[in-house]
Amino acid sequence: MHTTPIEYLASLRVGTVEYISPDRIEVQLDIESPDSVALNTGTPRNFPRINSYVMIPIDLGFVVGQVSWITIQRSPYPKRSGFQDFGLIDLPFPLRKMELQPVGTLCATENGYKFKRGLETFPSVGDIVILPTEDQLRSIIESGENRRVCIGNSPLVGNAKVMIDPDRLFGRHLAVLGNTGSGKSCSVAGLIRWSLESAEQQKIDKNASVNSRFIVLDPNGEYSKAFADKHDANIYTVNVESSDCKKQLEVPLWLWNTDEWCGFTKASPKTHRTTIVHALKTVRSGINVEGISKEKELANYIKVILQALNISVKDGLPFVKKPAFGFHNTLVKWAKGFKAEEEFSTKLKESLINLNSKISEFCTNRSGSGFIDYTYTREEINVLISLMECVFSDAGGKAEDFLPTDEDSPIPFTGENFVRSIEANAEILNTTDYIVTLLPRIKTLLSDVRVKNVIDNETLNLDDWLSSYIGANGKEALTIIDLSLLPSDVTSIVTAVVARMIFEAQQRYLKLNKQCLPTVLVMEEAHYFVKRYNDDAENIGPTTQCCKVFEKIAREGRKFGLGLVLSSQRPSELSPTVLSQCNSFLLHRISNDRDQELVHRLLPDNMRGILREIPSLPSQHAVLLGWASELPVMVKMRTLPKCQCPQSDDPDFWDVWTGNKERKIDWSKIANEWQNKGSKGAK
Ligand SMILES: Nc1ncnc2c1ncn2[C@@H]1O[C@H](COP(=O)(O)OP(=O)(O)O)[C@@H](O)[C@H]1O
Ligand SMILES: [Mg+2]
Repeated sequence: MHTTPIEYLASLRVGTVEYISPDRIEVQLDIESPDSVALNTGTPRNFPRINSYVMIPIDLGFVVGQVSWITIQRSPYPKRSGFQDFGLIDLPFPLRKMELQPVGTLCATENGYKFKRGLETFPSVGDIVILPTEDQLRSIIESGENRRVCIGNSPLVGNAKVMIDPDRLFGRHLAVLGNTGSGKSCSVAGLIRWSLESAEQQKIDKNASVNSRFIVLDPNGEYSKAFADKHDANIYTVNVESSDCKKQLEVPLWLWNTDEWCGFTKASPKTHRTTIVHALKTVRSGINVEGISKEKELANYIKVILQALNISVKDGLPFVKKPAFGFHNTLVKWAKGFKAEEEFSTKLKESLINLNSKISEFCTNRSGSGFIDYTYTREEINVLISLMECVFSDAGGKAEDFLPTDEDSPIPFTGENFVRSIEANAEILNTTDYIVTLLPRIKTLLSDVRVKNVIDNETLNLDDWLSSYIGANGKEALTIIDLSLLPSDVTSIVTAVVARMIFEAQQRYLKLNKQCLPTVLVMEEAHYFVKRYNDDAENIGPTTQCCKVFEKIAREGRKFGLGLVLSSQRPSELSPTVLSQCNSFLLHRISNDRDQELVHRLLPDNMRGILREIPSLPSQHAVLLGWASELPVMVKMRTLPKCQCPQSDDPDFWDVWTGNKERKIDWSKIANEWQNKGSKGAK
């Protein structure tokens, strides 16, 4: 073999530096350098190969360059070493040149090599260019600390293992981008699975379970199959079949906040929002239990009215700023409910009589000759309020029922009560005319059996909901939320609610425990949820509302231990805010121009070399770059067995046509289910 280091270096030599600038180095390849496979490094390796690495020895070690192009130049005078043959005619000779992008420096240390991003010293023209040895290559690719999870290997670099640090990969949001069929879903499923596996192997207490939390928002219903082997996984779906292990998805409507209700109903901030705020406050402060006594029922009834009145008086609406013309009619309507029943106590009966006589007094005063003055003064309202308060306490109502309620706090109520509350509040606020567009939307929502099962559940316990959707003690928590069967605007809101609830839960966890709870929220097909939107639209719809939630999580989630993973085939349609908050990228094949352009903008110039390969990546191959990876590396992701791949099979036209696979058609079954006629649909 080679005797001296100098000789060894010489044997790896492939060319000389011919041109150098801070971001570009041109190299003249030696004539005798390999032209397809290099054998001189010990193991055969493709050379010259786009995006492979070469090195230039400098004082401190080596400058590492990545090949960005290779070309041939016809040169009239080939340089040949050793020959002095003047008798021959020199024919133009193809000389090869390549361009490098300097990516970092490799320094020798006691135990091998260490790779660093960036250059302190630059090489100069005439310096030799060599091929890295196997060890050196590994040190380049395997740079970075806490390499804990193996996600694949690097085909360019002698199949070095590509390992990641989950803290980096998930800590600052990851975007997985690429065309359909390029392997995104498999990569995402793999990242979750391999992370859990590695944690399983390296956990401290071998008997405890991995304390992880992954929540997958799955709009196409691909993931339940991929994790079928995980028995602890919580798989939620809209239409539960009795046969499978899935559970009924529940995102009760009482979890929705004002913004989400407004987004869902496309409420206009001017006319609808106040009504919704008041309706939510009212309905959230009333505890409506079925089968209660008549007294209690009256107490609740009065309470809703009082709440509405108090809110209105406090907000100066509508009594102070302007008289409420509709109020008189409303009062008359309310009075119909102030009826004394046989079983009421004498005291309650008395206070009811007081209230009713006051109301009729007001009414008689107003029904004068011809002209009716509907205006109620503040004093009159106050008299009514105090009389109603008497009835309330005599009917067994308690003062603590009046604790100020936040309209957004998750206190259970039913859809029916919410509708009633909107109607009542609209009357008080005199907005009945405006809500004609609002109510039907909510009523339609509640009349769809599938949706109703998801959202109308008053008995659910918030604590249980958080444990089953985010995770509980002593459990490797993996939640898959299959949204595939929900109508699209409901999907957006349900997603927004789930994401916001998780985010708020994380915030509250941090506040109480002074430490954050690391949780990963995965968004498959993210363009459904974080679609770019127009900021100045007056009415924000469900998709915009959903996007805003994710923008907030993208901006602030890290502080609370919430990491996002988003996967999408249309990066150019995603919200720029969300995308710009992603610090790591796993890029699969992207062939569309606009998407490529966008991806290019994410990276500094001298790192773009490897991105040029993105349009031609085979499936399952990807480029990992950003915070999670010292250098952009090309990875061939680990292969998942068929049963662990998310289900995204292309339709098999041929097999079905030719009868190789059977497809029976039974539209009547589908039609019945569609129209809620079937045994299961009717409720
Ligand atoms: N890591 C992998 N392991 C096994 N098969 C893979 C892997 N990556 C991609 N594939 C194959 O490619 C196909 C498409 O991948 P998929 O993840 O569904 O793409 P995308 O989500 O980008 O549309 C899969 O059905 C699978 O056969
Ligand atoms: Mg997919």
